Amino acid sequence: MKKGLFIVIDGIDGSGKSEIVKMLHNYLFSKNKKYRILTTREPTNGKYGNRIREMLRKENDPESSGKKITELFIKDRKDHLKNTIVPFLNKSDKNELNIVICDRYYYSTIAFQGAQGLDIKALIRKNRKFKKPDITFVLDVKPSLALKRIASRQKEKFEQLEFMKKIRKNFLLLPSLLKDNLIIVNSNESLENVFENVKKEVDRILEGTA
Ligand SMILES: Nc1ncnc2c1ncn2[C@@H]1O[C@H](COP(=O)(O)OP(=O)(O)OP(=O)(O)O)[C@@H](O)[C@H]1O
Ligand SMILES: [Mg+2]
Repeated sequence: MKKGLFIVIDGIDGSGKSEIVKMLHNYLFSKNKKYRILTTREPTNGKYGNRIREMLRKENDPESSGKKITELFIKDRKDHLKNTIVPFLNKSDKNELNIVICDRYYYSTIAFQGAQGLDIKALIRKNRKFKKPDITFVLDVKPSLALKRIASRQKEKFEQLEFMKKIRKNFLLLPSLLKDNLIIVNSNESLENVFENVKKEVDRILEGTA
């Protein structure tokens, strides 16, 4: 019996992660009453996650604090897995399939901190010990469109066109660098179309857990 299902949605700011997480949650909730669903995100609201959030709000230069932020993300992820993700997945039994949908994971650390100038291979090594998701979707969108979508929000540290282009490039490199079950989804389209592609793959993987 499979121990739960761990799904990650990742991608640049404004790629539609939060929307897709919500749509997937709603879809799975009504698909089968055996499913128990937890949505969660990184950075978390824990000790380290909150320190990261504060840095993202207060700092303006996207190039600064790369090492410090990487360290905090690694600590945050360790806590997140230990306290939240793994215990929830482990509650799965023959009557219940526990599904975690996580908004951002180590893919973001590799893509963002790689764009800050840290070595991508070293970032991958630092994240190698963490649990691999059953499936990961990287929502891929043109940074100019992503910025339009989030234009009304307060800008954060990494939300600058040239920097976002670097991050996107790194996300697109990930399938060739990792052995993860990672799918790049075209997110320049309507949310309905983006979700259709995500749903199709999740349905396929769920057939295997029945
Ligand atoms: N495919 C899409 N088509 C049109 N609008 C979209 C699409 N995806 C997202 N949006 C809109 O763009 C905005 C940003 O989307 P969302 O908050 O889901 O992005 P995000 O990836 O979670 O961003 P962040 O990383 O900053 O949290 C929202 O207003 C959302 O409704
Ligand atoms: Mg979001």
